[in-house]
Amino acid sequence: MDFFNRKQQALYAEQCPVTELAKQYGTPLYIYSRATIERHWHAFDQAAGTRPHLVCYAVKANSNIAVLNVMARLGSGFDIVSQGELMRVLEAGGDPKKVVFSGVGKTAEEIAFALKLGIYCFNVESAAELDRIQTVAQTLDIIAPISLRVNPDVDAGTHPYISTGLKENKFGISIEQAPELYQYASSLSHLNIKGVDCHIGSQLTEVLPFLDALDRVLKLVDLLAEQGITLSHIDVGGGLGVCYDDETPPHPKEYAQAIAEKLVGRDLTLIYEPGRAIMANAGILVTQVEYLKVNEDRNFAIVDAAMNDLLRPALYQAWQAIVEVELTDDIAKAAYDVVGPICETGDFLGKDRNLAIQAGDLLAVRSAGAYGFTMSSNYNSRPRAAEVMVDQDKHYLVREREALSQLWQGESLLP
Ligand code: LLP
Repeated sequence: MDFFNRKQQALYAEQCPVTELAKQYGTPLYIYSRATIERHWHAFDQAAGTRPHLVCYAVKANSNIAVLNVMARLGSGFDIVSQGELMRVLEAGGDPKKVVFSGVGKTAEEIAFALKLGIYCFNVESAAELDRIQTVAQTLDIIAPISLRVNPDVDAGTHPYISTGLKENKFGISIEQAPELYQYASSLSHLNIKGVDCHIGSQLTEVLPFLDALDRVLKLVDLLAEQGITLSHIDVGGGLGVCYDDETPPHPKEYAQAIAEKLVGRDLTLIYEPGRAIMANAGILVTQVEYLKVNEDRNFAIVDAAMNDLLRPALYQAWQAIVEVELTDDIAKAAYDVVGPICETGDFLGKDRNLAIQAGDLLAVRSAGAYGFTMSSNYNSRPRAAEVMVDQDKHYLVREREALSQLWQGESLLP
């Protein structure tokens, strides 16, 4: 559930009319709803019940510091994959002691930075990374808390680009090799083995793959205990899907409770790393129709947002709802391909959408709060969009629209 609703014909973000926001801040414009973010975050937090747990929001989904700050105020932890994301968390008032550091390519510099801040845990993805963390930790004489990210080899049944738990993926350590690597880790002087981590993919619309993965990971936990390695936490990753179209993913509560049930009787802190489930439906992308163009067999709505603003449709053929900001009965509906100004055939936001529009009208791409702005670029030398956060009847510019002159900042001419 989100807080982008209609009052009569007009789309509202909480109590703010979207048309007014677009007038004030221009388009393309990302709009986020604070109430939606908080509602989704609490759903995860509450579903874990009394078990010790930490919701580590996956920063990659939306890393605007205002977004992070909303969650930091709730006491959220964060899942990061780079020093940049960690610095954003700090800037947003997040607690580094509630940060888990994921990712296959952590540099020595990034590891040192995170170690000095005393993060909660490194999710280690390879034997070579284990050695690197040991070396950096020894140099700094700080004990590094670690988990191994294991790959349980389950099929998440999602898009191949966002499925990460299969053997052929670059992520994690195969669950068969994990015991040996845990033994090795326990022999290293500056590592403290804290837990186990797994993340099997994104936009999963069923609970079953999560539970299959968890069964396999819990077997590993038991095996390690027999071998004298006791873990204190289990990180189940992120990946819970949302409804973009007609998917029926489990509610975060249902998902989190199913997981919590499997852990009954175990003394393990539970960590979640949700990204999309918190942010996707907490944001929309508002764009203005520049031209309507009719070819022999297709109608195009050429809008001022493009694949550089929202890459998901072009990259994954992802479907996101596109709706008129103001409904009208005065114009007949027609089927449009909603496309951007970028010089690529793949530059579309949606195809074959039934819309009643004319040039100058506003459209809203729904479910754009996750992997929207964070995946945006300057392709075709297009400044990145502005971002606004609404909070009931108030609205705040949380990122200025990029200025044209910023496009070549840091570049220089030859002497
Ligand atoms: N933890 C780890 C280690 C991850 O790799 C990810 C996402 C998450 C947590 C959060 O997953 P979520 O709850 O958001 O599904 N750009 C793609 C999604 C890529 C996800 C990458 N990893 C998209 O737009 O669909």
